[in-house]
Amino acid sequence: MSIVELERSELTKPLILAISGASGLIYPVRALKFLLEADYTIDLVASKSTYMVWQAEQDTRMPAEPEQQELFWRKQAGVETPGKLRCHRWGDVGATIASGSFRTQGMIVMPCSMSTAAKISAGLSSDLLERAADVQLKEGKKLILVPRETPFSLVHLRNLTALAETGVTIVPAIPAWYHHPQTIEDLVDFVVARTLDQLDINCIPLKRWQGH
Ligand SMILES: Cc1cc2nc3c(=O)[nH]c(=O)nc-3n(C[C@H](O)[C@H](O)[C@H](O)COP(=O)(O)O)c2cc1C
Repeated sequence: MSIVELERSELTKPLILAISGASGLIYPVRALKFLLEADYTIDLVASKSTYMVWQAEQDTRMPAEPEQQELFWRKQAGVETPGKLRCHRWGDVGATIASGSFRTQGMIVMPCSMSTAAKISAGLSSDLLERAADVQLKEGKKLILVPRETPFSLVHLRNLTALAETGVTIVPAIPAWYHHPQTIEDLVDFVVARTLDQLDINCIPLKRWQGH
């Protein structure tokens, strides 16, 4: 690979979008829509529990095969061609994103279940999502969690605190109302945009606060 190609590959490093079994699977769908439209390269992994939550929230089945998943997520996001999307099996701890030598822009876990937060906090790597998060931590890369649970127990708060202490950014799935949301997507997109802000990615036409 030439130096020019190497420099270009640095600029187009993939982003890991991880989905865990918390409520709110519309969040990663909206994130995918905007990221793919903006031509980002995404490595996507969904935990095993996500399949059950998808079924409960959408009344449809989420496919397990990576090739089918790519079509599935593109269809959900309504983005057929731009952006690169690679889907990984939940248990494939031999995937690229399980290695520290795989260069990324960072990783977002959206939504993040309390179970996944606990396992990342404890350093467990029992599936690909947890391993990829563990790798981001050991490599000193950006790791952003979007926790979704209510109310939080003291155990949840302690795990989230421990994660914040290690440099993880916690962006709770809490929308704002000052931008006058009219639709559910407006509320969701606020959370997605504030999450992507943490990686300095600005690809959502969000009405930002302009002052009085
Ligand atoms: C319909 C449904 C909704 C759920 N919502 C949440 C949630 O919002 N937050 C959470 O922490 N767990 C939630 N759970 C429980 C998790 O899915 C469960 O703890 C699971 O083991 C998480 O696994 P994972 O973290 O590997 O994805 C939900 C489960 C179901 C079936």
